[in-house]
Amino acid sequence: MARFSNGPDHVRRRALAVDLLAPLDADSLRRNAFERTRRIVAELDVVDVMAVVARPVPVGVLAEALGLPDVSADVAGVAAAYHPHVSPGAAEEAALTRLVAVCGGPTELAAARIGLLVQACDATAGLIGNGLRASLTGKPAEQPVLATRRRVGGEDVTVSLAGTPFGAGPRACPGSRPALALAAGVLEALRGFRLTEGEPAWVSSPNLRMPAVLRVTRG
Ligand code: HEM
Repeated sequence: MARFSNGPDHVRRRALAVDLLAPLDADSLRRNAFERTRRIVAELDVVDVMAVVARPVPVGVLAEALGLPDVSADVAGVAAAYHPHVSPGAAEEAALTRLVAVCGGPTELAAARIGLLVQACDATAGLIGNGLRASLTGKPAEQPVLATRRRVGGEDVTVSLAGTPFGAGPRACPGSRPALALAAGVLEALRGFRLTEGEPAWVSSPNLRMPAVLRVTRG
């Protein structure tokens, strides 16, 4: 995928990702995210937003818009294991194998599709979790992605993203428009909910700043 490629490979793979995103309509992403979220929360008294909404809904809606089935559970597994410093286990390898099959076999186009879903997963969940917490507490919204990893000459390097929520330059996030539309739809569907507890538990990652659990209930 583009994220971990350099030079001409990066340019070509990024173009595939950009082309896949280009036809997506922000209004329908927002509406679908709204409706999916409403359906999920309708059946629950207390909602852990991170687990049941912020991760599965954006990825599910994005997958549908890309012509794929709802692969959000497999994407969440791969998203937790695809960074170069993490060794994936058998479950994540199996999830990736299923994603490759659903995306049309081991090609650069399939990798671009999977790359979009995996990139969308934690980052958009963070945008939603941080946005909801900020709106319900009056505290400023935290930036979800604090740093990024790149592969340079076979080495992993960490690049700080301080002050640039979607990155900048030739690797800037190509998904900011769909991400904001998806997050807006989810947050709209959670209007009228309140937090059940004060401070959420935060994920323990040096690169991500987002709640691990964020429980809300109506009224
Ligand atoms: C629909 C949701 C999203 C999609 C499809 C998406 C897709 C992508 C892709 C394909 C890349 C790799 C670009 C490249 O290597 O040239 C990328 C990079 C990036 N994304 Fe997103 N993204 C999404 C949501 C987000 C969100 C919500 C954030 C943060 C708030 C974010 C922050 C970033 C950043 C900072 C990078 C640059 C990483 C780097 O410089 O190495 N993305 N995104």
